[in-house]
Amino acid sequence: MSEQPPISGATRLAAVIGDPVRHSLSPAIHNAGFTALGLDWRFLALPVAKGRGVDALDAMRVLGIDGYSVTMPHKAAIADGVDRLMPAARALSSVNCVRREGSQLIGDSTDGLGFVRALEAQLDRSIVDATIGIIGAGGAARSIVDAAARNGVARIVVVNRSPERAAEAAALAPVAEVGRPADLSPLDIIVNTTSVGMLGGPAPDQIPIDPELLRPEHVVADIVYQPRMTRLLAEAAARGATIAGGVGMLVHQAAAAFEWWTGRPAPLEAMAAVVVEGDPLAT
Ligand code: ATR
Repeated sequence: MSEQPPISGATRLAAVIGDPVRHSLSPAIHNAGFTALGLDWRFLALPVAKGRGVDALDAMRVLGIDGYSVTMPHKAAIADGVDRLMPAARALSSVNCVRREGSQLIGDSTDGLGFVRALEAQLDRSIVDATIGIIGAGGAARSIVDAAARNGVARIVVVNRSPERAAEAAALAPVAEVGRPADLSPLDIIVNTTSVGMLGGPAPDQIPIDPELLRPEHVVADIVYQPRMTRLLAEAAARGATIAGGVGMLVHQAAAAFEWWTGRPAPLEAMAAVVVEGDPLAT
């Protein structure tokens, strides 16, 4: 591990903006990355109230902050406020990271790419030509529809409680369609993007689909990472399926932003280690 220089006049700053943001794991993840590479960068959590996202962009220009991670409730407002959008952010009208190039601010959305990279790393194969079922149709689902399509999946089926939102998510990609839970069974990959099963969420310890739909051939992923082993993953594992938890997406979406800001390959192991170690709720 390289030595990180002490804070000086040359130190560069990145931050996560959101509300609430004090619980964010992003500072721990990114600072671990900077430390591992010996980069003279630091990362803070900055609480920014709803409606003040564009002011935070002005602050970035004025203060020379080099990168933002963007979380609730600013993802759409920041997409409107930056000078330029990368393709995924433009498709989604949503930004989860901003990079400053002089006075120009550029927005991107790395959540979906983070999911794809995490899954491909775990499976040690690409998802090209795979078929994928996505449970849910919120921001996370939309980012995965977009990224899965960009990364060459053959077919995407979106299953959601509210069918109109499912249709909006499926409209993001020509290979995507709306389906019912029973349509998930023949697919290769099934991913839960809802908060069902999340500790502290509206339906903790619940499962978003009938576990009878799960088979040993499936890869079952959950973007929920608290707890590590959601009920969906436990039921899938009990039926012999391959399972993938939510920490991978969390780390890989951060890694993609880290690489964009710093121009350096992200030290994935160091960044992942703090999530596992620093999370008292993990099981
Ligand atoms: P995010 O941006 O994190 O994806 P979101 O936009 O609030 O969050 O979306 C949450 C998703 O979880 C939606 O698909 C939501 O279903 P609806 O579109 O029908 O609201 C889904 N969801 C949340 N709670 C749920 C529950 N108890 N049962 C089924 N789906 C649920």
